[in-house]
Amino acid sequence: MAQWVISSAESEYPPLIYPRVLDLCREFPDLEFSLNGGVNDIGHVRSLLGFEESQELRAQAWGLDKDVENFSIPSNFHGAMIGRGAMNTPVMLWDVDHQIYHEDPPVQATRRSLLEGYRDYLQDAYPPGDTDRSVGVVHMAVKPTLGLFAGLRGNRAYRATLDTLTRDKTRRLEGPAHCLEEAMRAVEAANPGILDEPLAPTQAFQPGKRPSGDEDVAAGGGKQKQKQESKESNRGKKRKAAQQQVDEAAGDASTQCTGGDAEAPTRPESCTLSSSVDVAGSAV
Ligand SMILES: Cc1cc2nc3c(=O)[nH]c(=O)nc-3n(C[C@H](O)[C@H](O)[C@H](O)COP(=O)(O)O)c2cc1C
Repeated sequence: MAQWVISSAESEYPPLIYPRVLDLCREFPDLEFSLNGGVNDIGHVRSLLGFEESQELRAQAWGLDKDVENFSIPSNFHGAMIGRGAMNTPVMLWDVDHQIYHEDPPVQATRRSLLEGYRDYLQDAYPPGDTDRSVGVVHMAVKPTLGLFAGLRGNRAYRATLDTLTRDKTRRLEGPAHCLEEAMRAVEAANPGILDEPLAPTQAFQPGKRPSGDEDVAAGGGKQKQKQESKESNRGKKRKAAQQQVDEAAGDASTQCTGGDAEAPTRPESCTLSSSVDVAGSAV
């Protein structure tokens, strides 16, 4: 009986079977394919593209469990998309040009540097004084930053401040840049120093690991919210681990993503990780 009890998410979405993308690549060598669905971080993308040095890790990224030694990534496999992962944990993208396109390493970023850059953009795009500015407009303007503190102390203060100010007509009149600045103050008060912590470089793919702040859109946010709260209670450990990652950035080749012998993909014009033909791992 239990075998028939499946969640609504499972009933709506077929399983992701990445090896089918490999089969399609081989069957249609004149087409380029990219993979879409279930990829949660840049380390996973690197492994899918063959950047990681361990064959075992590449095979795990592709969900392969047999004939692992003989498997190779077809040259017409072009890239992977990240949807919810990037939405929930946008900081993962800070070193993506270096990690995927082999550009020079970026200047070390912090959440403050990202937010101040975005605040300046908002200041120009939504100057103060627009009396018709709706809640929706301000919400959409600040939305890309909502995952910036996922899994960290101060996340709630940041999001709650934005939510409250977005609904306040006077604050809306001042603009989304103002709301962002106030939210930065709130997070700073809740978690001093967090804004200035250096962002950790992309880490190698870790099979089975879900990113912090992960939210299963298909399944609804309930369980993830509980997870988030429990994560926040472990914030000390997390911050320590993040700092350790940064400290280790100079050396440990086994956990860092700087090497690999595969060629960097050509950057698509849209500057995303997508390609001309997107094929869900579920073999649509
Ligand atoms: C914020 C966000 C924006 C998206 N925008 C598009 C889009 O413009 N076009 C599209 O075909 N799919 C879009 N998707 C769907 C993703 O391409 C993808 O199919 C879906 O999120 C499953 O992949 P994931 O497991 O990486 O989230 C979007 C998904 C998210 C979360």
